Amino acid sequence: MKTRITELFGIRHPIIQGGMNFVGYAELASAVSNAGGLGIITALTQPTPEDLAREIARCWEMTDQPFGVNLTFLPSFQVPPYAEYIDAIIEGGVSIVETAGRNPEQYMPSLKSAGISVIHKCTSVRHALKAEAIGCDAVSVDGFECAGHPGEDDVTNFILLPRAADMLTIPFVASGGMADGRSLVAALTFGADGINMGTRFLATREAPVHRNVKQAIVDGNECATTLVMRPLRNTERVMRNKAAAAITEIEARRGGDLEIGDIRHLVKGAANRRVLEEGDMDAAAWSCGMVAGLIHDIPDCAELIDRIMTQASALIRERLVPLAD
Ligand SMILES: Cc1cc2nc3c(=O)[nH]c(=O)nc-3n(C[C@H](O)[C@H](O)[C@H](O)COP(=O)(O)O)c2cc1C
Repeated sequence: MKTRITELFGIRHPIIQGGMNFVGYAELASAVSNAGGLGIITALTQPTPEDLAREIARCWEMTDQPFGVNLTFLPSFQVPPYAEYIDAIIEGGVSIVETAGRNPEQYMPSLKSAGISVIHKCTSVRHALKAEAIGCDAVSVDGFECAGHPGEDDVTNFILLPRAADMLTIPFVASGGMADGRSLVAALTFGADGINMGTRFLATREAPVHRNVKQAIVDGNECATTLVMRPLRNTERVMRNKAAAAITEIEARRGGDLEIGDIRHLVKGAANRRVLEEGDMDAAAWSCGMVAGLIHDIPDCAELIDRIMTQASALIRERLVPLAD
């Protein structure tokens, strides 16, 4: 299946694994890329730019296929040295960057002059248009269903994707709620050139996280997630657990006086790692999408991607084409 996204990134299938903090290591990125998708290493999971350089080198040892690096610009407790992370990406021979969060405009000249293709992940049409205007090559349009930060507009992909198709010139992929061949065909129908998945790739054999995390996704359904940090305008969709309930309680109690310091212990990196690495499932609020309702197994990445492509082709051929007659 050739689309503008497979052509842009030189990949076999129009399927991207979105950046995931403490998940997007070389193991997962290389597995996705070897399976014909686009795997993505998450830059800020690496404590320093030197660590990112080593992780990129490790990924090149595991795949000869294209992979990307995610650079997330979110409000954080300490501002990371983004320029040095970008140097590590360029020197590591990576030619694809997924940016996310705040506007990456300030970093576009260094990325573009190094010949890097930039796909910016955003949650609204206006931000997608801004990404197009500042020279991004593609966008990942992230609906309200998504894991992580869905923005503050709460527009689901049924509206967001066709709106993006109407407004954008550059290619885009559908992100948030994507799990299978049905998702891919729907995304293509709406005008996207592929899909981006987070939660679905978290529940794969190669995702370097504790098995309790994968099992929680399999056990969860479409109502298993909730939103936290809305009063801070930094909304995050997370799995319902004790930490998420504690945050909700603090948010209600503090009302308009809420500060990030009130809940930091329940969202910060160290607590998140206890969930993802040690399987201590109530230690922190951890990102998870509504798509948990569509995830019932823990396949390896090749099996998952093959299954999506086979199901998508069958749907087009057996369901859609006959309907056109
Ligand atoms: C555990 C986890 C961590 C994530 N961390 C990041 C991150 O650091 N940066 C980022 O841009 N997106 C992050 N995301 C969002 C994903 O890249 C992707 O946009 C999102 O999962 C898509 O929604 P889906 O889960 O419904 O597929 C994360 C998602 C998950 C599940």
